[in-house]
Amino acid sequence: MQGMPQQSDEWSKVDRYVTDILIPKDRHLDRVLETNKAEGLPAIDVSAPQGKLLAQYVKMTKASRVLELGTLGGYSTIWMAKALPPGGKITTIEYSPHHAKVAQSNLDFAGVTDKVEVLGGNALEILPTLNGPYDFIFIDADKENYPNYLPMVLRLSRKGTVIVADNVVRSGGVADEKSVDIRVNGAQKFLHAVKEDPRLDATVIQTVGSKGWDGFALVTVDE
Ligand code: SAH
Ligand code: DHB
Ligand code: MG
Repeated sequence: MQGMPQQSDEWSKVDRYVTDILIPKDRHLDRVLETNKAEGLPAIDVSAPQGKLLAQYVKMTKASRVLELGTLGGYSTIWMAKALPPGGKITTIEYSPHHAKVAQSNLDFAGVTDKVEVLGGNALEILPTLNGPYDFIFIDADKENYPNYLPMVLRLSRKGTVIVADNVVRSGGVADEKSVDIRVNGAQKFLHAVKEDPRLDATVIQTVGSKGWDGFALVTVDE
């Protein structure tokens, strides 16, 4: 949104402060970010505090079947995999063959190979081939397709499934009804579609931090 900050040293400083106190140094996760950079992947993974939040959600929901759309290098995947109970499994979908290859090697390095299946390809084509129900679903792939993903992931849900959708605030863009940014429009359509579905209940929490100003939608499937 015009005139609003996209980044702030203070936001990053607080992320570092919180991370230093509450988030134990994890040599796997730190190394994954270095590998991603060396392999030319964009630094659009969740932040460490956000990765920890995803892990906390996996714990809180006692999820043993997790679905992720948009793997990138597997950073968020590894956060969630480490929070799974024994026998828990994540299915994660990644369109880019290069991202999927880097992710698989990162997952192997992190020792979570047995907990994660990386499916290479377009989530729009792969989702109809999957069998649910999943307990926890993290939507983080192409933002313009979020409204298309909603019915597809609901087919793979049950009463009690928790869905988190990343990047629905986009530096405040979501509140601009005149926005022509297709990613912002994707978030707007997604939220309206959630509202129209009587089975769903939801909120959005804005976040600031090392990844700028954005936010998560938290959706529960209540019926
Ligand atoms: N969840 C990751 C970040 C994902 S970035 C993390 O926090 O660590 C978004 C990813 O979605 C990119 O790697 C991109 O290649 C992938 N993507 C984009 N469109 C897609 C599609 N249609 N199907 C599957 N993956 C897609
Ligand atoms: C961007 C950020 C993300 O967290 C993501 O999943 C995809 C893209 C971005 O800032 O462009
Ligand atoms: Mg994201």
